[in-house]
Amino acid sequence: MALLLKNAHIVDPAAGIDGVADVLIDGERIAQVGEGIDAAGAEVIDLTGKYLVPGLVDMHVHLREPGYEHKEDIESGTRAAAHGGFTGVCSMPNTDPVTDNGVTIEYVKSVAAAKGHCRVYPAGAMTKGLKGEIISEMGDMVAHGCVAFTDDGRGVQGAGMLRRAMDYGKMFGKTFMSHCQDEDLVGDGMVNEGVASTRLGLLGWPAVGEEIQIARDIAIAELTGAKLHIQHISTAHGIELVREAKAKGLPVTCEATPHHMFLTEDAITGTYDTCLKVNPPLRTADDAAALVEAVADGTVDAIATDHAPHADWEKSREFELAPFGMTGLETSLGLVLTNLVKTGKIGYDRMVELMAIGPRRILGLEQVTIAAGSLADITVFDPEATWTVDEADFESQAKNSGFKGAELTGRATDVFVGGVATMRDGVVC
Ligand code: DOR
Ligand code: ZN
Repeated sequence: MALLLKNAHIVDPAAGIDGVADVLIDGERIAQVGEGIDAAGAEVIDLTGKYLVPGLVDMHVHLREPGYEHKEDIESGTRAAAHGGFTGVCSMPNTDPVTDNGVTIEYVKSVAAAKGHCRVYPAGAMTKGLKGEIISEMGDMVAHGCVAFTDDGRGVQGAGMLRRAMDYGKMFGKTFMSHCQDEDLVGDGMVNEGVASTRLGLLGWPAVGEEIQIARDIAIAELTGAKLHIQHISTAHGIELVREAKAKGLPVTCEATPHHMFLTEDAITGTYDTCLKVNPPLRTADDAAALVEAVADGTVDAIATDHAPHADWEKSREFELAPFGMTGLETSLGLVLTNLVKTGKIGYDRMVELMAIGPRRILGLEQVTIAAGSLADITVFDPEATWTVDEADFESQAKNSGFKGAELTGRATDVFVGGVATMRDGVVC
């Protein structure tokens, strides 16, 4: 049956729409967009007061399956994605076994097809076992649907290794996504080196440990001609490096996470909340402000969460022993609406670029626009809904959000993937 979404405020800069209209969906595609559409026999959903945008994609998500299902699995992770308003996620390959060959890519895709609540675009490892020693089975993975390469969770330590991976792998046309971390410089660092590490008495994770690999990776992208994407960029100088690379016309993009924009090292207090232990670490207020500025001026191409679920017992250990990472899928849209859109730092159109258009462009996915013929991957949100982040509301198996207790304005209410509802009125289908 056709589906008619009525009276939502549609924002889609690619389609040039910013206003109230109706969307008629027939099958998996949009059939018509316009005012006062009347379709006999269609199921009608009234979205008065809501915003309707191209489906959001989170390009940095740890679904943990196969191997770490005690933290999250593809079913629970994609349920969290739908709950957060996403129609698709790019899954990271630091699974067990590592997603570094076609069989594992195929496994992720098949579980997602059977149990998923959103589209899953799997990323494959750049090196076998994430060890940084041998190139992964890139061609095999691409043949099975891998959308990008990354050793996320680790930086590729050898510059020569990265060069070989890019030189070889660029023939597949995929983006190389870099988690930038020089292990020799960072060592066992766990909070930003400087005021935070001194105040807390914890080992410092220096900004330069990230920046040195951003600079190196940009140089190697220039040398090889491969497409480079900097993951979870966290420092002002890192942003400067990306800005310069873009000014030179290099194929370099980057993403920022809500936690690096809206939290700082100052949030880590004497309670040593392990939910605030993330990699790279929360940085200074100046760094966070530089990220927000870069999000507004176009230097940052995508907002991605680095959703990194962990079991309670893992995060309940001492700060030094707890794993890095916080969840993000269910708070991202609310945080962006509250901290960037409501404050006037960006408009809804820029939000759509950062959360829907940019991720698809970087991952080489079919773009979704609110226009006839487009895939009906659609996110609907209530811009005025006020809510408090509460772990009891999470669909994710994990509770390790660093934003518990935050008061937010704006929340996804309805999500459609290929014309099929995955969330209706705030309830995941
Ligand atoms: O905080 C993080 N957690 N950063 C990463 O890069 C990896 C991730 C994880 O896998 O838990
Ligand atoms: Zn990472």
